[in-house]
Amino acid sequence: MRGLITLKSLSTSKIIELIKYAEKLKKGFRISYPGKKVATLFFENSTRTHYSFQCALMNLGINIIDLNASTSSVNKGESLYDTVKTFEALGMDGVVIRHQKDQYYKELENINIPIFNAGDGKEDHPTQSLLDLMTIHEEFGKFEGLKCCIIGDIAHSRVAHGNVEIMKRLGMDVYISGPKEFDDGCAKWIPMDEAIKTMDVVMLLRIQFERLSLPMEITKEEYHRQFGLTMDKVMQMKENAIIMHPAPVNRGLEIADDVVECSKSRIFKQMTNGVYARMAVISDTLDGNL
Ligand code: CP
Repeated sequence: MRGLITLKSLSTSKIIELIKYAEKLKKGFRISYPGKKVATLFFENSTRTHYSFQCALMNLGINIIDLNASTSSVNKGESLYDTVKTFEALGMDGVVIRHQKDQYYKELENINIPIFNAGDGKEDHPTQSLLDLMTIHEEFGKFEGLKCCIIGDIAHSRVAHGNVEIMKRLGMDVYISGPKEFDDGCAKWIPMDEAIKTMDVVMLLRIQFERLSLPMEITKEEYHRQFGLTMDKVMQMKENAIIMHPAPVNRGLEIADDVVECSKSRIFKQMTNGVYARMAVISDTLDGNL
């Protein structure tokens, strides 16, 4: 399957190459693909990924067709495969897909155009991982030896599941923290107060309420008190440590309002970098390398 389904199938050197290509694009390198057409198919809500992919496509001079899932024939029972096959028949050069189903792409093995995975269920979000890594690389100029703790709803997070393996492969020490009920064992769990004081990267996650099978027993106020990143906790972080969050953020829940845009936060920089990371992936694919 061409395009990008998961970073896990790429070599470490290829991931570094894509990060460096994204950084080159951010510095102003331009390439365009006139006449190319890519469809964006979002079956699950999105702000950043949806419109960041569209910005990336515009910057590459690529025409965009956007599926409105709520008015499409999906509502008449059309399968994901037949929907994507339709866009292939319409002459698309690729499709960007976000879907609530884990590994939805397994249904698309007979699709012959590149697929860009914009998030599948709780499994993976490869362009989010790439923009996260780009942001870390821009900040520290390396990965080897950096310590990152991902804090929050790990169990339901495609961001955590996409990032942990790749960060480890790049030589980072990766930990998880937050409520024990969200510990799915994807990395070593450590207490939050230890994480705050020792990490280079504190990566927060929102609670994925839409994926919880049972309501949370803890109140939002108690969650914020115990696991939210508040300014008093930020004051305990290492001098050069940074705060990341894939967003959307829930201000006052996993992160305090005044922390979202504090000097250690790279949350909006991550969004900016997402455009360049996605440009790199699309360009490399249309050049025949992915
Ligand atoms: N980070 C992220 O995937 O955000 P959206 O759900 O808004 O695309």
